[in-house]
Amino acid sequence: MPQKALLLTHALTAPDAKFVVADIAVPEPGPGHVLIAVHAAALNPVDWIVAETGRYVSSWPTGLGMDAAGVVERLGEGVVKFGVGDRVMFAGTVAGPTIVTTFQQFVVMSVDFVAKVPSNISLDQAATMPCTVATAAFGLYQAKQQPLGGLGLTPVWEEGGRGKYAGEPIVIIAGATGVGQHTIQFAKLSGFSPIITTASPHNAAYLKSLGATHVLDRALPLSALPARVRAITAKPVLYGYDAVSVPETQNALFDAVAPGGQILLVKRTVAVDEAKVVERGTYVARVFGDVQAPGMQEIGRTLYAHFTQLVEAGEIKPTRLEVLPDGLAGIPDGLQRLKKGISALKFVAHPQETS
Ligand SMILES: NC(=O)c1ccc[n+]([C@@H]2O[C@H](COP(=O)([O-])OP(=O)(O)OC[C@H]3O[C@@H](n4cnc5c(N)ncnc54)[C@H](OP(=O)(O)O)[C@@H]3O)[C@@H](O)[C@H]2O)c1
Repeated sequence: MPQKALLLTHALTAPDAKFVVADIAVPEPGPGHVLIAVHAAALNPVDWIVAETGRYVSSWPTGLGMDAAGVVERLGEGVVKFGVGDRVMFAGTVAGPTIVTTFQQFVVMSVDFVAKVPSNISLDQAATMPCTVATAAFGLYQAKQQPLGGLGLTPVWEEGGRGKYAGEPIVIIAGATGVGQHTIQFAKLSGFSPIITTASPHNAAYLKSLGATHVLDRALPLSALPARVRAITAKPVLYGYDAVSVPETQNALFDAVAPGGQILLVKRTVAVDEAKVVERGTYVARVFGDVQAPGMQEIGRTLYAHFTQLVEAGEIKPTRLEVLPDGLAGIPDGLQRLKKGISALKFVAHPQETS
């Protein structure tokens, strides 16, 4: 029996590029792998970036999609960690040993990078988390290494990690992004205080409910950020996480963090002047939230070993979501809406409801 998948024929810059819902084979799970029926697949900015630029694509047509939740359908040899019928969540990969995309009805995954969905959340909610939770956690807890690395903090899942940074301020630019929301939640678990973020004012109460202590209006001039931060805390800020990393926010965060501090970016391009970085002794790194990419697998496995528990305890929460109509066929419109801009919201499609 074939399955339905959303495929893109060429990068969207090509005149004849189009999305098609096509029949493709259902893959067989090998040893240590499971076949998962995808019931919910969430949309991320990287999906439209890949669709427009062809980045990470080695051949066309290509699948897309980095976030999913579903039900285990079949077990590969030796799998004891999961049973048929288990509700699970997982991320796609653009750089793993085998590329995995989630805008399709069935996916094979290594059990190392799959987590059970606890009973306190739905599959739709679960699908909103894998990509941004990994990006938040890797950014904070991966070892310090450049250019791809983390802030080197003690993870909350390690002994002594909980509350370790009590009394230490952190600035998280763009708290209402999915990445920002999960970074705020991990920062709270790590004990940071104050947790200062930027967002549209209508998201302030929501972000405070996740753990932010101060929400600065993102419309304020970014040149005022260092002074606004100093008015909140007299302590030098040593840690910053920029969850949008456009040139203006990178530079404002760099100026808000004290000399010798550390900042983490989510984009490929570092916009802060290199000479200034050296002069101030600031550590600047870029995160890569792909749990199966080379160099990320070890921390990816550790995160997945603790993911279910963090969600079950209500310590890491799903993002607010809207379900798209028409199964896989509804995704291209969703990507357009995502590109135009959404506010603290994730779009989720139901691949099994594709006609
Ligand atoms: N490096 C990696 O591995 C990796 C992984 C995942 C994502 N990313 C990147 O991380 C970024 C965030 O991804 P996401 O999925 O979390 O985004 P998202 O949820 O789609 O972000 C939407 C939010 O962005 C906020 N925003 C946009 N520009 C802002 C600015 N200048 N200042 C403050 N807030 C701003 C808006 O906040 P308001 O509603 O409050 O206005 C909006 O709610 C994207 O650039 C994505 O490509 C990188």
